[in-house]
Amino acid sequence: MAIRNLRVFALLMVAILGSVHGLKGKRQTKYIVNQVTEPVQHAEGPHWDYRSETLFFVDIHEQKIYRLNSRAKSLTYTYIANGPVGVAIPVEDSPDQLVAGAGTDFVLVTWDATNNDTNPTINVLTKVDTDRTDTRWNDGKVDSSGRFWGGTMGPEINGVITLNRGSLYRITNELKPEKMVSPVSISNGEAWNIQDNKFYYIDSPTRQIVSYSFDSYKGIISNKTIAFDLKSNNIIGTPDGMTIDVNGNLWVALYGGNHVINVNPRTGKLLRAIKIPAEQVTSVAFGGPLLDILYVTTSRIGLNESQLLSQPKAGSVFAVKNLGIQGLPANLFELTRA
Ligand SMILES: *[C@@H]1O[C@H](CO)[C@@H](O)[C@H](O)[C@H]1NC(C)=O
Ligand SMILES: *[C@@H]1O[C@H](CO)[C@@H](O)[C@H](O)[C@H]1NC(C)=O
Ligand SMILES: *[C@@H]1O[C@H](CO)[C@@H](O)[C@H](O)[C@H]1NC(C)=O
Repeated sequence: MAIRNLRVFALLMVAILGSVHGLKGKRQTKYIVNQVTEPVQHAEGPHWDYRSETLFFVDIHEQKIYRLNSRAKSLTYTYIANGPVGVAIPVEDSPDQLVAGAGTDFVLVTWDATNNDTNPTINVLTKVDTDRTDTRWNDGKVDSSGRFWGGTMGPEINGVITLNRGSLYRITNELKPEKMVSPVSISNGEAWNIQDNKFYYIDSPTRQIVSYSFDSYKGIISNKTIAFDLKSNNIIGTPDGMTIDVNGNLWVALYGGNHVINVNPRTGKLLRAIKIPAEQVTSVAFGGPLLDILYVTTSRIGLNESQLLSQPKAGSVFAVKNLGIQGLPANLFELTRA
């Protein structure tokens, strides 16, 4: 595993030691769920930036990237004119820059996130799905070598997705998109284990979490197997965004399922289900200085009046505390090689 700076290494050590302690001491923790932002339309793609100790997330169709600074209790945003924003990830060694997937553009956004900015500087780095016009970027993450992995999805017409229109791409600092999985329908959750030899992936309509062998040096995946199947476990909802903890267990947002589930991808066992006060749970990321808070994004898109009355917090970001587990630091995109 390429550990690029001491800060990440220190965070990892805290996380590992913390989890060992946590396993011995408090298996029976009672978690707490707090709303930490006002509702937006369709929050997605949470990313804890360990450098600034803030949480980035996107509001896809509103074409916004948000940053929550929970210490300063401030929420700021920027607007991306290029199209729906499926993902945004900060750039290594460049505190005011993020890469984002907007429409089918892969862009570099320059934004001083202490202020709202509806007209940031945006440079298109590359484009994907150039042979079609009906797809857009959805979720994405960065691997241990700073390569971006993100995917696209087909058009949604009256709530129905056209299947097999998207792909999962890898984009290195050479900025040439390479198809890693194709076709996919709704490219979503991604996670690498702490050993950096497994890649977990969700194509939402399959209602499965799949596992690949990951070669971290070459940045390639192989040996696809099914790690967890929602249908055979009688679980309601569609798997959406996902993250992993230091013990190698996955945390998966259930769109239309009111919960985040915690599963062991090695045994295929469901470990825990965390109830969230919104039906459309979109994604999850560990954050906080000790990476022990699970941030959860949700959506209020498509909910009718009576549903909005019964789940007024839908569209908010929530923080789940006291889970007794820690996550891994999220990698940053390496635009230039050190
Ligand atoms: C920025 O926008 C957010 C969200 O709309 C708002 O709550 C906040 O007051 C704004 N902040 C500034 C500094 O204008
Ligand atoms: C793929 O799986 C086979 C059978 O389980 C195993 O022998 C092989 O080492 C795996 N390949 C990789 C690259 O992990
Ligand atoms: C709102 O949607 C729910 C779930 O689909 C449905 O049961 C309910 O009848 C709808 N209510 C209205 C007022 O349309």
